[in-house]
Formats: sequence, structure tokens, C-alpha cells
Amino acid sequence: MLVIQTLDELKDVLFRVKSSGKSVGFVPTMGALHDGHLSLLQRAKKENTAVVCSIFVNPVQFNNAADYTQYPRTLEKDIDYISEVADIVFAPSQEEIFPTVPTEKYHFGILESVMEGAYRPNHFNGVAIIVKRLFDWIMPDKAYFGEKDYQQLVIIKELVRELNLPVEIIGCPIVRESNGLAMSSRNKRLSPEELQIAPNIYRILQGSLSQMHLSVEGMKKYVVDEIGKISAFKLEYFEIANAETLQPVASLDEANSIIGCIALYLGSVRLIDNIMIKK
Ligand code: PAJ
Repeated sequence: MLVIQTLDELKDVLFRVKSSGKSVGFVPTMGALHDGHLSLLQRAKKENTAVVCSIFVNPVQFNNAADYTQYPRTLEKDIDYISEVADIVFAPSQEEIFPTVPTEKYHFGILESVMEGAYRPNHFNGVAIIVKRLFDWIMPDKAYFGEKDYQQLVIIKELVRELNLPVEIIGCPIVRESNGLAMSSRNKRLSPEELQIAPNIYRILQGSLSQMHLSVEGMKKYVVDEIGKISAFKLEYFEIANAETLQPVASLDEANSIIGCIALYLGSVRLIDNIMIKK
């Protein structure tokens, strides 16, 4: 496995990889890697002859300074962890990626006016800025994104469609701990007590499925009430939405595929999760 920090080196290495006719699978990450990231890399390895993983805590997608500074950074451990599955790790400095303050503006209309986009202003612009730059430099055949960040996946697909980028976006299922907690780099910031509480998120999401005989409002009320019973949680939103347009639905008959998405604080850590209600 090669670890690369500069764009010049990345360009040279990728030129060699591409000239030898290899197909490139790419997994962008912010590090503090876990089995969720690993599942994306394993899928990329199955479907491509070269696997590139980027590790970069992207400052422009954080709308909260503390969240950025406290984001776990474990580069040495990450490199070890994926050494069997990635061929190239691109772990650049901030100056390498953003020598000047980036000014690109991406707009995703209704896709970003809801949920994460509504609660984290400018977040998806920051994600699009880094992902578009990485796509331009790496020119992957396929890029892998987790359904854990479901809205991000939909928005990246839209970015690729809108700009007609020559990359196929592959969505991958959420990897969970055995207790149901969706794996996340931010889980590393939870205290042992909070780690006992966090699995309730998925338990409650699953519980909402048994309320499907109720209206969408009934399902939402169930989740809001159940989350409210756990004082350590501070709910930001629970939305039941069309899984393609991300727009809230009033009835489960309104769309072919429907997803329930949640964001909440557990202590100072913001967690997100989701559950497919109808495929
Ligand atoms: P990060 O949070 O590191 O996640 C990198 C990729 O791993 C994303 O596609 C995310 O959805 C996926 N992922 C995270 N946890 C997962 C889980 N439990 N199961 C399956 N997949 C999971 O998402 C980002 O970084 C950034 O926004 C990025 C795309 C790298 C741009 O900076």
C-alpha cells in the first residue's frame, strides 16, 4: 500500500495505475476508520483492480468549529487498519487541498433544503467542493458512499448527474455494531455511559416500523415520544421522506421508497441514523 500526501505524487501514481489498464475504485473518508468504512473499501476491492482511499478531515463541510477541532484524527492507526484492502491512501494536508479559501458554490435545490441541509447550513456545499476536487484528481471509475449518510449519497449522485461526471456512484448498506448502533467516527467521542444509551436510536427506529399501521404522523410521534423518554438525547429532527426526492411525505402511499432519518445530540456529540421504511 502506498501512502501519498501531495497532489503531484498522486498524479504520478494514478497515471501509472491508469496506464496499466487498472480500474480505480475510490472511497473518500475523513478517517477515524471503522468497519463501516472497511465495508466500502472491501466492496471497492471486489469491483476494481485498484482501490484508493482518501483520508482528509474537510474543514469546509463543518458548520461547527468545535465539531471540526474535536473530530477524531487517528491517521497512523487508519493506515494500518486498511493496509490489506487499499492500494493507495491519499492523506493530504489542508494546504495541499485548499491553498486558498475555496469559492465554488454548488446548489442542490430541494435536496439540500431539508434535514442535514436545513440544520447544517453550507454543509453539502463543503462536501461537494471536496468530493468534486477528489473526483477530478483521482478520476475513479466507481466511488463508494455509505447509506449511513443517506442525504449525502443522494446529493453526490445528483452532483454526478448534473455535471455529467464520468464516475459511477455506488451506495453501500449501513454497518452496525451488534447492538444496532450505526458505526460512526463520532462514536469515538461518546463516553462509556453514552455508548450504553446510543443503541436506543436504532431500537426506536426499528420500533417505528411496528407503527406502520398508523399514519406517518403516528410513526413520527412514536419516535419523538420514545426519544423524549431518554433524557440524554436531544432530538434535532426525525423525518419520514421520499427516499429519492428527500421531501417529507404525509402518507406511506405517496412514494415508492420511503426512508426515516434522524439526527440528535447525545451529550455534545451529534449522531445521525436512518431506516428504510419502504423499498
Ligand atoms: P466519513 O464520515 O468518514 O464517511 C466516509 C464514508 O463512509 C461515507 O460515504 C459514509 O457514508 C460511510 N460510512 C460511515 N459510517 C458508515 C457505516 N456505519 N456504514 C456504512 N458506511 C458508512 O462522509 C464523509 O466522511 C465525508 O462527508 C466525505 C464524503 C469523505 C467528504 O469529506
